[in-house]
Amino acid sequence: MPDSRSILKMPVPFRWGVATAAHQNEGDNTNNQWAAWERQEGRIQNGQLSGKATGWWDLAEAAADFDRAADLGLNSLRLSVEWSRIEPEEGVFSATALRRYHEMIGLLCERGLEPMVTLHHFTDPMWLAWLGGWENPRVGDYFGRFVARVVDALGDQVHIWCTINEPLVYAYSGYLEGSFPPGARSLPRASRVLRRMMLAHGRAYRVIHAAQNDAMVGIAHHMQVMLPAHPGWLLDRYATRLADHLANGTSLTAVLLGRLTPPIGWGETVPELIDSADYMGLNYYSTVRATFDPTRPAELFTRRFLDPHGELSELTKSGQHFSEINPRGMYLALKRLSAYKKPIYITENGLPDRLDAIRPRFIATHLAEAWRAIQEGADVRGYYHWTLVDNFEWSEGYNLKFGLFEMDPETRARTSRTSAAVYARIAQANGIPRQVMERVAAGAVPTYFAG
Ligand code: BGC
Repeated sequence: MPDSRSILKMPVPFRWGVATAAHQNEGDNTNNQWAAWERQEGRIQNGQLSGKATGWWDLAEAAADFDRAADLGLNSLRLSVEWSRIEPEEGVFSATALRRYHEMIGLLCERGLEPMVTLHHFTDPMWLAWLGGWENPRVGDYFGRFVARVVDALGDQVHIWCTINEPLVYAYSGYLEGSFPPGARSLPRASRVLRRMMLAHGRAYRVIHAAQNDAMVGIAHHMQVMLPAHPGWLLDRYATRLADHLANGTSLTAVLLGRLTPPIGWGETVPELIDSADYMGLNYYSTVRATFDPTRPAELFTRRFLDPHGELSELTKSGQHFSEINPRGMYLALKRLSAYKKPIYITENGLPDRLDAIRPRFIATHLAEAWRAIQEGADVRGYYHWTLVDNFEWSEGYNLKFGLFEMDPETRARTSRTSAAVYARIAQANGIPRQVMERVAAGAVPTYFAG
């Protein structure tokens, strides 16, 4: 459906942002379970530590990066607050840390960057980890109490909240795959953690709204778009539906309908969870193929893999590619989410690309596919690219580089990548100009522009 206009316009207003997270950016976070994990041998690529990260706990360094974001013409920035700084010991809250976040967020507001604040992005205070982390049945109470404090301290400046970043990734990576702390490999434990995170999301949703009527509260859902490896095979279609339910359906049904379905429940409805999202946050990175595999009873006979014929991004520590670069997946993910009739923020989208060879095209084509979904009715209100500056990429250390700006790991000096300029052109035009598409993805021009 080529378009005769010279620009694929996004709706007005539209939030153009970048997404970041406390532990990946602040530096000197030493009191959470990731800091402990990093010190264990073999956990992080090349034994790296998060260390100073991008240095944002130093407000001058944060301000310099916020200037960069504002100079690109962005109008929003997603960041998270670090629970272990705000509540370093159980029940003990740090007024100093809360003040520092208030100042940091003030720096965003001064620059016209509307803050979107995530309350949990993968890290837990050590005291919580010692109490069993998200397996502890009281974790929802702890989280609710923490959230109330944060909203009280920051609510005068923050109206868009994201309760929990990617519960599924936290549960899967930490409790099934073992690549995140605590490094467990157990489906019952992973399911328990996911269930508790969903319940805690419902609690946090209510806590925030009790304090702030006009808050926009949502969750960031990591959506893997599943396609059958062989679309003509019935068993592959079964495997795809099942994999999709496990990866996406359980969380979406919980947050939007309040129902807990296997493996996190038996269909029971939790009143606190019903309709507990004012918007849906979409983190879209990759499309995945699913196939029926009789050798994998433990995984319910499904196997997921990246299409070897697809365009694949850089390799991770485990020797696998990070993602399949598939812009159409953005369209499919948005179509899927738009069925729930909620506003949508694309809360993350990006790729590791140290040479910035693909990222300019990646940004333009993913946004063009978002535009296509918007034409068909998806209520997309904003896009947050992951990420502004190369940062601490969890198990991958500093080896995978997702930034619009490159950071020298020694000096922490920033250098703008081409993709920063491309994203700036798009944000400033509030859409994808044909000229930009011609420059970065000429082959895609006929798909979106006529003539
Ligand atoms: C996470 C980020 C991470 C990014 C790239 C997302 O799943 O929310 O923290 O850096 O993926 O791996």
